[in-house]
Amino acid sequence: MNDSILLKTLAGEKTERPPFWFMRQAGRVLPSYMKLKDKYTFWEMMQDPKLGAEVTLLPIDDLGVDAAILFSDILVIPYAMGMGLDFTDRGPEFDVPLVDRKDPVAALNPDPEKLNYIYDVIQQIMDTKPANIPLIGFCGAPLTVLCYMLQGIGRSKEFPIATTFIYQHKETIKKLVDAITDLSIIYAKGQIKQGIKVFQLFETHAGLIPFDLYEELFFPSVKKIAAAVREEGVPFIYFPKDLGTGIAKITPDMCDFLSIDWQTPIETARKLVDPNIGLQGNIDPRLLYADQATIEASLNKYIDFGSKNQDWIINLGHGFLPDIPYENAKFLADWIKRTDWRR
Ligand code: CP3
Repeated sequence: MNDSILLKTLAGEKTERPPFWFMRQAGRVLPSYMKLKDKYTFWEMMQDPKLGAEVTLLPIDDLGVDAAILFSDILVIPYAMGMGLDFTDRGPEFDVPLVDRKDPVAALNPDPEKLNYIYDVIQQIMDTKPANIPLIGFCGAPLTVLCYMLQGIGRSKEFPIATTFIYQHKETIKKLVDAITDLSIIYAKGQIKQGIKVFQLFETHAGLIPFDLYEELFFPSVKKIAAAVREEGVPFIYFPKDLGTGIAKITPDMCDFLSIDWQTPIETARKLVDPNIGLQGNIDPRLLYADQATIEASLNKYIDFGSKNQDWIINLGHGFLPDIPYENAKFLADWIKRTDWRR
């Protein structure tokens, strides 16, 4: 594990090139994944240790990434709190959204045991993965998880029902955030015990509410989860998508590395973010719809940044989009490896 280029970068050591992995690297673009998807549902793949481990490890051979990320979903937390969950063609759906409950807090029944199947998947990954490739664990951050819990379905990315509820019931929201945070900490520690070496917190919908409200209601939870993970010696990456210039307000007690979306140029992000925090990101996932000459021309602008910044992990600004050509994802991975980073 000592020769993991990702762990070296997270530990502040020098490397010849930046390490890379991609959000949604397993479950979207790989032809090998598509074949499995024809045979099994998402639930089947993530719950079965053999299948879950197989899918998790696919991008190592198919793309040559420097890390694997557990094949699972952020919505396993509400599921373990007793909410009925289904992954449909329209996205994830809960049977009874929390806004339809008289007492949303009492409707939840967090049961850490209901996460045990995931530790079995991690064990199988540990038994079968290459030694120099670390496993990244993750969970969703409370606002993103709450959006789906409150509204029940993620069809509208604006989450109007969830946002209205957040404004109208602040005290209930605080209790719900605490409940999600407590179980997320147990879950993160469980993943660490099982062998994950890096942890990422996905706050995909950080931009859903005004920054001040996000800071008030959700920063405390991010700090608690970050502290619990770092206490175990595991580096913590935080991905608050669409936070805009709010990234300037993120303090070193919230993360070791900050994952930047594609809206902020990486050099601008570097100027905004606290110098004690490393960066991850932020290739625009839509670039991968272009032809390879266009992709390469756009990627070249990262070389100067990479030559000057050792505390940088290459990733996308959000996950791979479902219908990009696999060849372009592979082209991106190969480009990172063949580029002279002038370090
Ligand atoms: O490479 C990987 O796929 C890693 C595993 C992973 C999944 N979801 C698998 C998945 C990770 C890290 C996630 C995180 C996740 N899940 C987030 C945060 C990151 C992001 O992409 O914004 C969010 C918001 C979710 C909630 C979720 N799960 C949605 C909105 C959907 C439907 C749309 C989609 O992303 O495909 C899911 C389902 C889901 N999660 C699938 C997979 C492989 C698809 C299931 C299927 O095809 O039936």
